[in-house]
Amino acid sequence: MSTVSSTGNPLRDAQDRRLPRIAGPSGLVIFGVTGDLSRKKLMPAVYDLANRGLLPPGFSLVGFARRDWEHEDFAQVVHDAVKEHARTPFREEVWQQLAEGMRFVPGVFDDDEAFRTLKATIDELDKSRGTGGNFAFYLSVPPKFFPTVVSQLKKHGLSDGEGESWRRAVIEKPFGHDLKSARELNAVVHEVFQPHEVFRIDHYLGKETVQNILAVRFANTMFEPLWNRSYVDHVQITMAEDIGIGGRAGYYDGIGSARDVIQNHLLQLLALTAMEEPTSFDAHALLTEKLKVLNAVRLPRELGRHTVRGQYAAGWQGGEKVAGYLDEDGIDSKSKTDTYAAVKLEIDNRRWAGVPFYLRTGKRLGRRVTEIAVVFQRAPHSPFDATDTQELGQNAFVIRVQPDEGVTIRFGSKVPGTQMEIRDVTMDFAYGESFTESSPEAYERLILDVLLGDANLFPRHEEVERSWEILDPIEEYWDKHGKPEQYPAGTWGPQAADEMLARDGRSWRRP
Ligand code: BG6
Repeated sequence: MSTVSSTGNPLRDAQDRRLPRIAGPSGLVIFGVTGDLSRKKLMPAVYDLANRGLLPPGFSLVGFARRDWEHEDFAQVVHDAVKEHARTPFREEVWQQLAEGMRFVPGVFDDDEAFRTLKATIDELDKSRGTGGNFAFYLSVPPKFFPTVVSQLKKHGLSDGEGESWRRAVIEKPFGHDLKSARELNAVVHEVFQPHEVFRIDHYLGKETVQNILAVRFANTMFEPLWNRSYVDHVQITMAEDIGIGGRAGYYDGIGSARDVIQNHLLQLLALTAMEEPTSFDAHALLTEKLKVLNAVRLPRELGRHTVRGQYAAGWQGGEKVAGYLDEDGIDSKSKTDTYAAVKLEIDNRRWAGVPFYLRTGKRLGRRVTEIAVVFQRAPHSPFDATDTQELGQNAFVIRVQPDEGVTIRFGSKVPGTQMEIRDVTMDFAYGESFTESSPEAYERLILDVLLGDANLFPRHEEVERSWEILDPIEEYWDKHGKPEQYPAGTWGPQAADEMLARDGRSWRRP
């Protein structure tokens, strides 16, 4: 997407961009390495990158956690995680090379001795593996630990590289739980790291289909002329999951679906769908346009009518009876946490004035699907009999983020026969059919970008703070008014969500 190093010669730069993007000498330190994310996503992503030849031969992985492990124990944990979750086939020689660069540092975050050991470990890796002093610190830990970890990195001389070498901080969500806490966290992180050294993860931006939103919009002529209030009736952004909260009660309860997903993933999808064309694809140009559109987002005045929250009750999913949220392990039986949220947003600018953007997300819904549906207005005039167009809906352009990645266009077509009956049909593009290349996992892409110092796909602190600013009034409203409506697991959410759209004369898609 962007030039990592510009030669100053546009033709050379264009050629460079087609070369595989391979990380230079470097290493990754993961705090919170015993967590689920690390095992299911980060460790496999590192292996997959190595397997694809995108990491340097001396790449090193350091785990930091409160465990009584030797380096070999850590390597074994990574090995098991890779075997279970990696995307690419296991190859012994790739594994061996990677395993030689694995180290483990036992300790808690306020333990000076552990950070001295970490420093010694990094120095040793620079000598034995040629990591060149280039290290990224991945904070896969709850935000309450950020201040301690970053100040320890500073105190022990780990946050600044020497000479040409770099140090970067990678920060997992949740980045705060409201605007105030996000600002405080940003201040803490920026005391130690420069803005260009901080990489905030929103793994949705690492997904191929999400990056494709910009390709589809700005590499073609067909769509953009229609992509505005003159033709678009409304936009629906859906992220539905069939899973419950699994073992994440500690994180999820009190946070809920809107903070977990709307504040980050869905507002980023909205920004990419609604923003103006950036002047280039470098991080600054993208941020400028995303921020501009996020700044134009307006909440409806009557939050009670235009937002909905729900909580799953017991129900049936995939032929099995599943428990309700309040019966999940570790959940307070009186919890008011939302597991479903829907909001209507408007965008106050010339392109989108009057076009609602409906966002919804939920756990234990009918099926797992994330999509962006741009729904068009009906034709201004119909020369056909009303009876012939009964099965004609509104045209739609649907970006299928996952699963079944691709794009669907829905439009009306004549039904074969002697009458002029018109019915909706779809035209599909599916990744699997059009490309032989397989899609990397989001975390593969994002970890590689961190090592390359490429910040395009990482939200900057201004976007994060603006997103909280959008969400905060909704959460405050919910806090003061009632509790979430229960919906049976396996359905499409609370009835109030259907009513919310019905009041606008619309209905949710059933993807
Ligand atoms: C995470 C949320 O950011 O995204 C989870 O914290 C959610 O609650 C997950 O399950 C979904 O990610 P994906 O890539 O499976 O859609």
